[in-house]
Amino acid sequence: MSAAPESHRAEVTVRDMTLDDVPAVEALERQLFPIDAWPLQMFLDELSQPETRRYLVAEAGGGIVGYAGLRCIEPIADVQTIAVVPDFEGRGIGSTLLTELIGEARRRWASEVLLEVRADNPRAQKLYVRFGFEQIHVRRRYYRDGVDALIMRLQLADTPGTGSGETTEAGNQ
Ligand SMILES: CC(C)(COP(=O)(O)OP(=O)(O)OC[C@H]1O[C@@H](n2cnc3c(N)ncnc32)[C@H](O)[C@@H]1OP(=O)(O)O)[C@@H](O)C(=O)NCCC(=O)NCCS
Repeated sequence: MSAAPESHRAEVTVRDMTLDDVPAVEALERQLFPIDAWPLQMFLDELSQPETRRYLVAEAGGGIVGYAGLRCIEPIADVQTIAVVPDFEGRGIGSTLLTELIGEARRRWASEVLLEVRADNPRAQKLYVRFGFEQIHVRRRYYRDGVDALIMRLQLADTPGTGSGETTEAGNQ
């Protein structure tokens, strides 16, 4: 069995996204969401609203291997985006990013977290269900290629998080 490449063994760290990260994130966005990638300006716009947004990147081996963002306009939080590069999938990075976003939603006193996911994306759906999200609605032909969007919701308890990123929702992993 051959050893994993150095970059794949590297420790993964999660930190806030900065403006300097946006070109790299936008390049990943085009790769990971070829049908409906956000333009670069969209990320810049999101980062310019920290009072209602929190964006994160996951880094390994000096490069960005994942990113995620939350909008929170109390009492509703929305997972705006979440993605992990294929070579780093299945290592818990998506779960870590989602845990952080849910913790952020709690800290901002959101009562629920919403997201939309392509009906043909069972991997992401499974991740969300594992965190306690439930499908509440279908938007027919929502995506550019005619695929439906599933709207999913996680209802939060009344108390805000402690800041540790730990959530009870993740406890059923
Ligand atoms: C959806 C997505 C974000 C998930 O990211 P991820 O980093 O692979 O997610 P995780 O590793 O946390 O979880 C995925 C699976 O890996 C498993 N896993 C987690 N940590 C693991 C580890 N250390 N070793 C092995 N497997 C692990 C999890 O149990 C999970 O399995 P399950 O889905 O069968 O329960 C990622 O697949 C992705 O970016 N897809 C393309 C973009 C996309 O679809 N984004 C969502 C748009 S709504």
